[in-house]
Amino acid sequence: MFEYLLLTQLTLIFFTLVTIFAFVVRRTNKIIDNEEISGGLRDPPQPMKLPLIGHLHLLAGYKIPYQAFGVLRKKYGDIVALKLGNVQSLVVSGHQNIREILVTKGYRFDSRPNFERYRMLFNGNKENSLAFCDWSDRHKFKRDMLKIHSFPRAFTNKFESLETIISNEAKNLVSQIEGTTRIKPFLVETVCNVFTDHFCSKTFRKNEAFTHMVESFDEIFYEINQGYAADFLPFLLPFHTNHLEKINNLAREVRKFVLEYIIEDRYETLTAEDEPQDYVECLIKQVRYGQDLDFSWNTALFALEDVVGGHCAITNFLIKVLAYLVKEPLVQKKIQEEIDAVTYLGDNKWRTVAISDRNKMPFTEGTIFEAIRMIASAIVPRVSNQDSSVNGYRIKKDTLIFLDNYDLSMSEELWDEPHKFKPERFIVNGHFVKPNHFLPFGGGRRGCMGYKMVQLVGFGMLANIMQYFTVLPVSFEDYTVPVGSLALPFDTYSFNFIKRQIDTVI
Ligand code: HEM
Repeated sequence: MFEYLLLTQLTLIFFTLVTIFAFVVRRTNKIIDNEEISGGLRDPPQPMKLPLIGHLHLLAGYKIPYQAFGVLRKKYGDIVALKLGNVQSLVVSGHQNIREILVTKGYRFDSRPNFERYRMLFNGNKENSLAFCDWSDRHKFKRDMLKIHSFPRAFTNKFESLETIISNEAKNLVSQIEGTTRIKPFLVETVCNVFTDHFCSKTFRKNEAFTHMVESFDEIFYEINQGYAADFLPFLLPFHTNHLEKINNLAREVRKFVLEYIIEDRYETLTAEDEPQDYVECLIKQVRYGQDLDFSWNTALFALEDVVGGHCAITNFLIKVLAYLVKEPLVQKKIQEEIDAVTYLGDNKWRTVAISDRNKMPFTEGTIFEAIRMIASAIVPRVSNQDSSVNGYRIKKDTLIFLDNYDLSMSEELWDEPHKFKPERFIVNGHFVKPNHFLPFGGGRRGCMGYKMVQLVGFGMLANIMQYFTVLPVSFEDYTVPVGSLALPFDTYSFNFIKRQIDTVI
């Protein structure tokens, strides 16, 4: 009897345990299922918001949004949700998180913001733009078509031709800036000529229409780089109507120049059999004889203008480099020592420095990257094209994503003495090395299409200026470099260019 009871009890205990176990397993599976469905994701922290403007007030009062991002990061962590007007947004900091957005999950974050301003600037359709359109087969095609021109590979004809163009233009620049203090008007034409020659096989000397065109481009570049509350509060747009109309007029003048001086009669005369000689002809050929893709002449012209407009980024960037160097005589000296060593021909003679010298000049290349780091210009915002996540935080489709490039460029955890100008931080065992966590050109499928041009043209111009001149300050000039954007007003820093004592063989 006792044995029977014991057996019954044991059986009961056994079945109870099995039931509990089954329940636990079922529940655990249910939790796992739920986590898979929802991704086990948390909602990102979000500060208290105000009616109508949401969190816009949190970005106000700072010269650059990055400063606000830093404050938010300290309070809420690496990922913070913001409602800016009616736009659901997210600020993402930390290099792993930024890489996750740009690269690992880049295909989920490949759209761009839908600002009314972009629509107005690109003839009623932001898809006309190269940098602000959403991802599509057509955009991929546009990128592929541009690649061979904007990323010329060493030892190819394209590279050699670009090397000659840069050398000729740099020589011309050097002869112009001797005795002047305002370099920007000369530099902007020089760099624009590199672009028009390389992409369009055209150069312009003492041409008023060209001078006017580069000034218009520079103004557009400056304006497009400013932040507008109206991007998030469209009802404010009417206050910008005059301003936007002014930019549209400038853009129309650029278009007029492009058609008259760059395209000329090539649209009509290029035949289906002709091998395209430059980017312009590739575009014309695609519009006239290409198949499948809806690629209008208007789209092609916008693509061309976006690329040629890249000269503004490089010009303003180079002026900022000089503004750093004017305060860093030792850095200038080291660049000059590097140039002199690489270009020495013997017998107290030197040859002109060229872009193929770049690999032998890690300090000069490091200087370019150190300036890019310190400027910490914004990464063009991305937008999620589907529900997704970053670092376990839920991100809804159509969320606008700001990537905190300032944190990436200036973090104490990633850089030694980040506020000091130290090109040597990019040199490892005598070679230039870019750390993996440094992403000034973004990355993934929407990464910058012009970074090679920045490296090559930036290097070519800087090395040539430094070969001939030492750059000294002009009295009472403030050389504080604005960070967060590449743009500068047209009327900007002056410098004294002091000729070095060196017999250069030209
Ligand atoms: C120092 C100068 C420059 C910097 C720091 C810079 C940086 C950037 C960044 C951060 C992006 C966004 C990348 C992303 O979303 O992942 C971008 C996009 C882009 N950049 Fe640059 N850029 C520079 C110069 C140029 C130049 C000279 C050109 C033209 C040749 C150019 C053409 C483009 C284009 C076309 C895009 C859009 C690519 C796309 O959305 O598919 N950039 N750039």
